Amino acid sequence: MAGQRYHLSTYGCQMNEHDSERMQGMLETLGYDECDEPAEADLIVLNTCSIRESADRRLETQLGNARRFKTERPEVVLAVGGCWAQSLKQEVFERYPFVDVAFGPGQVDQLGEFLVSDSIAASGHFEFDGFTADLPMRRTQSASAWLQISVGCNSKCSYCIVPSTRGREVSRPFDAIVEEARELTRRGAREITLLGQNVNSYGRDLRPDRRSFAELLAAVDAVDGVDRLRYTSPHPKDMQADVIAAHVELASVCEHIHLPLQSGSTKILKAMRRTYSRERYLERVRMIRQALPDASITTDIIVGFPGETEDDFLETVDLVEEVGFDGAFTFVYSPRRDTEAAQMAVDLVGREEASERIGRLIEVVQRTALERAQRFVGRELDVLVEGPSRTDPSRLRGRTRHNKAVNFSGLAEPGDLVVVSIDAATSTSLSGQASLLASASR
Ligand code: 5AD
Ligand code: SF4
Repeated sequence: MAGQRYHLSTYGCQMNEHDSERMQGMLETLGYDECDEPAEADLIVLNTCSIRESADRRLETQLGNARRFKTERPEVVLAVGGCWAQSLKQEVFERYPFVDVAFGPGQVDQLGEFLVSDSIAASGHFEFDGFTADLPMRRTQSASAWLQISVGCNSKCSYCIVPSTRGREVSRPFDAIVEEARELTRRGAREITLLGQNVNSYGRDLRPDRRSFAELLAAVDAVDGVDRLRYTSPHPKDMQADVIAAHVELASVCEHIHLPLQSGSTKILKAMRRTYSRERYLERVRMIRQALPDASITTDIIVGFPGETEDDFLETVDLVEEVGFDGAFTFVYSPRRDTEAAQMAVDLVGREEASERIGRLIEVVQRTALERAQRFVGRELDVLVEGPSRTDPSRLRGRTRHNKAVNFSGLAEPGDLVVVSIDAATSTSLSGQASLLASASR
């Protein structure tokens, strides 16, 4: 493979970003070098997402471009991985006959197999055959690293394509995760984000020793050099006292919890098969606030789910006001193939209605997030430096333990922890001045 070059584009969530890092590690081990321009690559890899229709559409454009490259240079290999590929399986080749190899999120290693074999026939790989996280790591590492703890999801949320693309939940062995945390810190990571579709159900399937997510947090916290520990995403139904206590007791576990709500209406939550009610969600928030009064809480919300009335929507708005989220990702419901909700023909919410609702919701989210962010003004916060600010390259950008982006002036290198005096806040970011290099959190 010497001299061969690859171009990789990633769509979707952190799990896909992580899978892409492993693809890169694998390709680099095989002797491929990365190149910025797909037009110059020998191998084009698209790591796809299918969470909403907009993701599918973006991909169709990319596939159109890739077809052009292949017409101009037929020797180019086009590989399509990830959730969109998994949801279509062999249909990928029927719809896009110029694709050489397609594989789902659990078959990343098959890309390597394909590249080293002499096969010239198109091939598709869609059965789970190992953790992507067991593939080689990339050569370059930053101060923040992903760590995969499980694959798949056993929930049955009626709107979500993920259970069908990523399969049943399988936990990675406890010791393998802790060992990887050690390896990541040896390579310079000081912030680790544990990744799973439903992180807090981790370990229930492990035999003979069941483990809990809280135990895993404690074991990773104990690894030398882990200054910050995060995780995404938990399911509110599994957010128990032991995980909340871990935030209080373990120095590295950050003061931020992302707790996907989806809807504030118990009726809609039921139709979504979320298995908690509005009250149960609020109870969890109260538990968190009691133990961690200063923690940031963020969420995901879907607007326009089938059957959502104006009153249901107002219950969501009301809950957002009541909780006062530090931030929220808001989405218009998008019907996904082979999901239960896509078959619901009752009281569909029109596009205009849904986009009008999401507009109103975003206003409330921004207002409450701004109100919450004001508590940081005047404080000195530890910031992990990421690099230059995106809006003003003479300033730096980093993140607080509360997961707030901060733009600040001062001298520091990516990976440094600095203390920043916060002097202003918007709904999505803070700004300030760095005073000194912070020591690690312990
Ligand atoms: N339509 C709209 N939003 C969705 N999400 C998941 N599936 C859908 C869908 N079909 C949102 C949920 C989830 C986030 C990652 O994406 O809010 O938490
Ligand atoms: Fe991630 Fe879901 Fe998109 Fe798959 S479909 S890449 S799990 S967001």
